[in-house]
Amino acid sequence: MQDLRIGIIGVGVMGADHAERVVRRISGARLVAVSDPDLPRANALAESLSRPAGIAEQTGAANGSGAIRVIGDPLDLIADAQVDAVIIASPGFAHAEQLMACLEHAKPVLCEKPLTMDTESSLRVVEAEHKLGKQLIQVGFMRRFDPEYAALKELLDSGELGRTLLLHNVHRNKTVPDTFRSEMIVRDSLVHEVDVARWLFDDEIAKITVHAPKPTGLVANGALDPQFAILEMASGAIADVEVFVNFQVGYEVRCEAVAEKGSATIGLGVDVLTKRAGQWGGVVPEDYRARFGTAYDIEVQRWVDATRRGEIDGPSAWDGYAAAAVCTAGIQSLQEGRPVEVEMARKSEVLG
Ligand SMILES: NC(=O)c1ccc[n+]([C@@H]2O[C@H](COP(=O)([O-])OP(=O)(O)OC[C@H]3O[C@@H](n4cnc5c(N)ncnc54)[C@H](O)[C@@H]3O)[C@@H](O)[C@H]2O)c1
Repeated sequence: MQDLRIGIIGVGVMGADHAERVVRRISGARLVAVSDPDLPRANALAESLSRPAGIAEQTGAANGSGAIRVIGDPLDLIADAQVDAVIIASPGFAHAEQLMACLEHAKPVLCEKPLTMDTESSLRVVEAEHKLGKQLIQVGFMRRFDPEYAALKELLDSGELGRTLLLHNVHRNKTVPDTFRSEMIVRDSLVHEVDVARWLFDDEIAKITVHAPKPTGLVANGALDPQFAILEMASGAIADVEVFVNFQVGYEVRCEAVAEKGSATIGLGVDVLTKRAGQWGGVVPEDYRARFGTAYDIEVQRWVDATRRGEIDGPSAWDGYAAAAVCTAGIQSLQEGRPVEVEMARKSEVLG
């Protein structure tokens, strides 16, 4: 079978990380094109990754060689006959149009979260994909591919601990840019735990309350940071989430599941503990690329493998839509200071 020829849209932090991943670590795929309105950035990335020598060839990874084209307009990249599949890593506001174009050209796509910026446009994407009669969209909720989260899911699904009753989640970033406002904390950060709760409980979220404690004094833009969300599942189970994106220390993501006969915690970061100069401890990752590098590798490799079989293997457009609906309600809760019911179409009515 031929290598999957991948085009990446948006080569900022996440897109560049995926580009390097495809070139250096993913088998069965080749990066053939990138697109970004920041042309110098796209050119520099394409040039650096097109060089024939390097780690890829030394390690035998198949994809190191071959020129990577820079295509100015993302819609042209999607339509290009030499591109078999697309990774969308542009900002969220650009996703809806680019996803629709992928569907129009029947191109499989791994779309970074959020699926789109609001519930309505997410539902339109779900419906357009459904009309095609084939799942082409996978959403980049990479926590599902993290070995620790996957082990937690397996444990909870085994029933060994009885029924899962509660989830306690912590999601902290070292810092974020000034442009990261209160709503983005919900739509761009909390959205990961929204997906984790839906996935671990295998249930929809019926109601969300987002509390805003007195904010840290270390953000100048007035963002409500930290936030504390309570997600009420349709079945009655509850998940809580602390999101704190200017924690100053480093990147920290934890999840504790409390079940009838025990609890399980992941994300303790207990890698190598060292003792020196009267102290003991370990390293706190700088950001998500360090903490979830393995998860991204597994996510993209499994997406490539599934795409070559004509399938998806991960969170679907419906999962992206459900998360968008919860985040829309979450932003309303934050603004109005009250619990908000999640308004969502019924899955059976949309997907049959
Ligand atoms: N899964 C994760 O853990 C994770 C982590 C970070 C970011 N993300 C997601 O990845 C996406 C990109 O985030 P980022 O942090 O890399 O942002 P970024 O700002 O670093 O990069 C975005 C890039 O997209 C380009 N761009 C702007 N408008 C565009 C358009 N219309 N079409 C194509 N490209 C366009 C910009 O020039 C920039 O190079 C977002 O959807 C974000 O939510 C996911």
